[in-house]
Amino acid sequence: MVLPRVLIPETKIRQRLQDLATEIAFDYRGKELTVVSILKGSFIFFADLIRLVDLPMSCEFMGVSSYGNKTQSSGEVKVTLDMTEPLQGKHILIVEDIVDTGLTMQYLINNLKARKPASLKICSLLVKPDAMKCEVEIDYVGFKLGREFVVGYGLDHAGRYRNLPYIGVLEDEH
Ligand code: IMP
Repeated sequence: MVLPRVLIPETKIRQRLQDLATEIAFDYRGKELTVVSILKGSFIFFADLIRLVDLPMSCEFMGVSSYGNKTQSSGEVKVTLDMTEPLQGKHILIVEDIVDTGLTMQYLINNLKARKPASLKICSLLVKPDAMKCEVEIDYVGFKLGREFVVGYGLDHAGRYRNLPYIGVLEDEH
């Protein structure tokens, strides 16, 4: 198996997460936060990030699937797991692995806004600004990327590579 080329090493991810966590804790000081992990891709980012955020919080999980095994967005979003708790009146922070075209995030924003939270913000580890097809504002961005397809640290290609501790680029297969 050819290992992906390292794009963002573990140490850099850890440093950036500390900065994001400090910013989030400051912005939500005095409030109780509900963090929503978007599965599957955000599970590692989510687990690492929330342990650095010094705030009272509760955790929710929502599963969405948009790509199947392809590397291009279909634009269709399927909810594979929904939350059990009502979001009304809560301060919601969506935690996503990557925003590519933005279509998944646009769907999520509309879906969660309809549940009438007190506030709704978005944190994404990775964003591909050149690939965006709609206007979604990401409040907390870990790293900006070009259009390259990345794997590792929770992100997959055809279900593989999620367990890599770094973010890498697949070079030979694309
Ligand atoms: P969007 O709807 O095009 O923004 O795509 C969002 C979803 O596509 C993410 O939650 C990922 O599951 C997947 N995705 C987009 N780009 C990548 C990538 O570079 N690597 C792995 N998954 C990706």
